[in-house]
Amino acid sequence: MCTSFSVNSLPDLTGRIYLITGGNAGIGYETVYGLASKGATVYICARSEQKATTAITSLRERLQNPNAPIHYLHMDNMDLYSVTAAANDFLSKESSLHGLVLNAGIMCTPWEESADGYEAHWQTNYVAHYLLTYLLLPTIRATALACEPGVVRIVELTSGAWQLAKGPGIWFDQISLAKYEPLDRYCQSKLANVLHIKELQKRIGPKSGDIEEGEVWVASVHPGLVETGLSANYATTSVLGRTLLRMGMGATPDKGALGPLFAIASNDFKRDWSGSYMVPTAKKGWTWRWANDKDLQEKLWKWTEDQLRWKGFLSNSVRL
Ligand SMILES: NC(=O)c1ccc[n+]([C@@H]2O[C@H](COP(=O)([O-])OP(=O)(O)OC[C@H]3O[C@@H](n4cnc5c(N)ncnc54)[C@H](OP(=O)(O)O)[C@@H]3O)[C@@H](O)[C@H]2O)c1
Repeated sequence: MCTSFSVNSLPDLTGRIYLITGGNAGIGYETVYGLASKGATVYICARSEQKATTAITSLRERLQNPNAPIHYLHMDNMDLYSVTAAANDFLSKESSLHGLVLNAGIMCTPWEESADGYEAHWQTNYVAHYLLTYLLLPTIRATALACEPGVVRIVELTSGAWQLAKGPGIWFDQISLAKYEPLDRYCQSKLANVLHIKELQKRIGPKSGDIEEGEVWVASVHPGLVETGLSANYATTSVLGRTLLRMGMGATPDKGALGPLFAIASNDFKRDWSGSYMVPTAKKGWTWRWANDKDLQEKLWKWTEDQLRWKGFLSNSVRL
């Protein structure tokens, strides 16, 4: 546990490269600020160039550095071609990646299906992030081989709401949950974030025992209740959401960013926490039920890999 963690506790990150989805607003924006304030180069994946450039201008003003190395990559999580294009764009510019923060998200938005054939929560919160991670993994692993263990990490924003998922947790036979409520679709996608990190831990994370070259540390992070644009739809559709927001029970986005910042870059994040579900602030949380189901973790990985391969987003020869 590290309750005294603040942005100032982060080490110097000069020379390190980070990529974050949804870095133009809310928790993501403050995460970019924290990383850039320590000298990191940060790429922001965003669906709106205008929002991204406005955010970058404001971040540079706050940093009092008009040349702070913060860059925009176009990526709309609802368009998997743009996810592949963002990965290729990044790889054409950089050959290292020290940290990937999978942060972009939606909650309780009205029913929508992408051109790729997935419901909006499932694609935005989970599938797009799986694809981006998969495409960047060779570079992430190569970077890890060239760095001290623990420098290179992947962090995925989840929510405590994963525990409210229904039935089998992941409904492979009706993945869009068309007959359910928007909150159910959010909870399923946030459970998928936890399962994704646990499977990544098995595949690329540190094993018990001696430190190995090239290990990548990973974590899922629940940022707590944070007042951002995320809850706008929840507040209009739920009495509980509306009440909590009216009571001002949410943390400010800079406080909400402390969890992801701790997990992605703090020297106090321990090796044996890799694979964990982290809760506010900078604490290891507990997982149970579906989240601990090793078969489900692997089944979701393979299901997603097969889907994306079948849809032509993964090259047939590469299998991670
Ligand atoms: N706030 C909370 O209380 C809370 C609690 C638990 C978990 N979380 C998690 O924390 C993460 C960040 O949420 P937040 O509270 O910071 O929300 P936010 O302020 O609404 O920010 C969400 C970010 O995701 C981006 N995004 C949404 N759909 C996208 C798409 N199709 N393509 C690309 N980017 C997209 C948004 O871009 P636009 O600006 O273009 O919309 C924005 O940058 C989410 O994963 C959320 O589930 C938040």
